[in-house]
Amino acid sequence: MTDAAIAVAGLRKSFGNKTVLDGIDLDVRAGTVFSLLGPNGAGKTTTVNVLTTLVKADGGTARVAGHDVAADAKAVRAAIGVTGQFAAVDELLTGRENLQLMVDLSPLPAKGGKRIVAGLLERFELAESADKPASTYSGGMRRKLDLAMTLVGDPQIIFLDEPTTGLDPRSRRTMWSIVRELVAGGVTVFLTTQYLEEADQLADRVAVLDQGRLVAQGTPDELKRQIPGTHVRLRFTAAAELDAAARLFPDASRDDEALTLNVPGDGGTSSLRALLDRLDEHSLSAEGLSVHTPDLDDVFLALTGRTTEAVK
Ligand SMILES: Nc1ncnc2c1ncn2[C@@H]1O[C@H](COP(=O)(O)OP(=O)(O)O)[C@@H](O)[C@H]1O
Ligand SMILES: [Mg+2]
Repeated sequence: MTDAAIAVAGLRKSFGNKTVLDGIDLDVRAGTVFSLLGPNGAGKTTTVNVLTTLVKADGGTARVAGHDVAADAKAVRAAIGVTGQFAAVDELLTGRENLQLMVDLSPLPAKGGKRIVAGLLERFELAESADKPASTYSGGMRRKLDLAMTLVGDPQIIFLDEPTTGLDPRSRRTMWSIVRELVAGGVTVFLTTQYLEEADQLADRVAVLDQGRLVAQGTPDELKRQIPGTHVRLRFTAAAELDAAARLFPDASRDDEALTLNVPGDGGTSSLRALLDRLDEHSLSAEGLSVHTPDLDDVFLALTGRTTEAVK
């Protein structure tokens, strides 16, 4: 057995005459986080569905935990856990009952189930609400419960399809720390996301999916090197001011039409203060200022020349 938890070659899938996956190749090393990054409609869920045996591919091969997804779907299912884009939680049941149901459905010995459930509730900070119906849970709590349900069978490989889309920043961070814990425990995580920051935070390797093809693959740092970094955008009212400011910041890039200057920097308060002082010293003032952190849109524009809007 190699240490590839997931190995995909030439994967293709169409729905009717619409090609959704147009020859995907990727490998995920065991014990790492792989993030599939792409806008709405790029084919992320379809990829997850094929790899988790929910959907049959039209061509190519995919091996998960050493088993072929088409020929040996049962063995694949036994090795994986899946948390879908839309939570599989039963609203009418309490958090504890949802988890217990997973224990009952799993091939685990029934003994010890209660302890597993209690442990997961504790770990996911759900113990206090464990006996309330899931319908009363916030979006973040529901996602956590969903992920906890995934972990009942102790899967080696976990698929998380947009686990934090629509979550508030705090719940997002909780999810991130759970993913990190899982990986520290040797689990392999295949994660889809629309957030560059999320891929950057969690993934060992990232692939960018665009119209059924992977247009880039590498470490988050390799990816970010291909796109413009964090910068401060200054907007001026006159071309002469833009000229003068551009002379002060030789690293900056300018847009003569919009009268803006993009100054590379971390966007932190002290570098902002230094930037404003610099303008002040030269009696220059900007009409507007914004801090711009690179996101999926920047990745797309840099890699494909299109914005993410064009993909929808
Ligand atoms: N069962 C299906 N039948 C027809 N079209 C589908 C089906 N599933 C997905 N699609 C289409 O495939 C494309 C990719 O969808 P999806 O994999 O859900 O993308 P993502 O998860 O990246 O948003 C979309 O255009 C979607 O409408
Ligand atoms: Mg999706």
